[in-house]
Amino acid sequence: MTLTQSAIDILSRNDRGGFTIPTKGLYPYQWNWDSAFVALGIATYDMDRAWGEITSLIEGQWPDGMIPSIIFRSDDPDYFPGPSRWGKTKGPIPSTGISQPPVLATIVRKLTEGGSVQDKARLADVFDAIYRWHAWWHDARTVDGIVTTVHPWETGRDNCPEWNLGLDAMTVAPDLAPYTRRDNKHVDASFRPSQEQYDKYLTIVQFGDSIDWDQRRLTDEGPFLMADPNLHFVLLRADKDLRALAAELGKPQAVRDQIDAWIAKGEAATDTIWNDELGAFTARDMHSGTFCNGFSNCSPLCFYADSGSAEQWGKTMDHMTRIAAQIEYMLPSWDPEAPDFEAQRYWCGPLWPQMNYMTALGLAEQGHTDMAARVQNDLCRVIEKSGFWECFNPLTGEGCVGNNFSWTAAVWLSWQHDKKLEGVA
Ligand code: DGY
Repeated sequence: MTLTQSAIDILSRNDRGGFTIPTKGLYPYQWNWDSAFVALGIATYDMDRAWGEITSLIEGQWPDGMIPSIIFRSDDPDYFPGPSRWGKTKGPIPSTGISQPPVLATIVRKLTEGGSVQDKARLADVFDAIYRWHAWWHDARTVDGIVTTVHPWETGRDNCPEWNLGLDAMTVAPDLAPYTRRDNKHVDASFRPSQEQYDKYLTIVQFGDSIDWDQRRLTDEGPFLMADPNLHFVLLRADKDLRALAAELGKPQAVRDQIDAWIAKGEAATDTIWNDELGAFTARDMHSGTFCNGFSNCSPLCFYADSGSAEQWGKTMDHMTRIAAQIEYMLPSWDPEAPDFEAQRYWCGPLWPQMNYMTALGLAEQGHTDMAARVQNDLCRVIEKSGFWECFNPLTGEGCVGNNFSWTAAVWLSWQHDKKLEGVA
């Protein structure tokens, strides 16, 4: 069987009837940015089903506009923390009380490029929901002019060492309700976050539930508050794509002006996550103002967002070149020279398919074609070597954490399709 056929099979096996899970066992529900990437992959062979993935995700939108990180359409005892632990969340379907990186507008724009009349009608159906979600980020999660996050899970990069600053400064709730983890029963526990990190993740969840998931209060009063280059650059890129979609749909001037204001706000905020000492974009603890000290696979998303100065881009490329010279498979999620780099532990080192997708796209768009090819080819090489894993050891190319993973299959399909379109072998 070809890898392309295997990728299609994975997506169809992970289909739970209108929505797609990331992988069986470890992640048995619909995850937000996973579903957006899934739509990108499915669009290469079934446009109708791709749009269905997006509308099923939007079905979980809260009245305040947030689209949550996980939608729980059932209660699977094999996953923790499931719906009962999140408490009285506010969506029409049980869900988490936090969101995830808003890649949706960017992927929707890609789906409509060169699309049919039907695609334009589908776009018109989802535009307002995505616009309301962006408004939520700008209203409920903005502090000092930059989008922030209240939980490492919201960034999608659960245990990246960037979060240690914020996590170290908080304490585990003394009345934290007892719990049993399930994640480390499904996969090698050494690939997963530590117990102390989990206690803190659950402390934030307990706090959110205690304030009835009032999202502005969660931002202003919660125990964890950081700015994240992933959320910042993904949202800025998505705002720019949303602006193009608004023009295509002929949306009212007030809507276009509002998106323009969000873009201007985002451009101004880029400087505030520039860590001058390191010469890279990094996370920043909003309580103390302190920058993280490591280069992550989100630092080069400045290219994807088309934001930052020539000097900032040059220094970012210097880091990429340095890392590329010493690592077999680009792009590790954490700097391999950092003391807390771990090649197999989730966001402490492994390369992540969806990050390679966004990074390669941004680099190519900005004319860094050699590095774009390296980032793209290295992901293809690890898939060819090991299969469709959640993430990969960047030193050996071995797969880590979940196997038969939806977004890995989706990125593979998208690239195969695009290469075909461009006539690349
Ligand atoms: C998990 O359960 O590990 C997820 O990453 C939370 O979103």
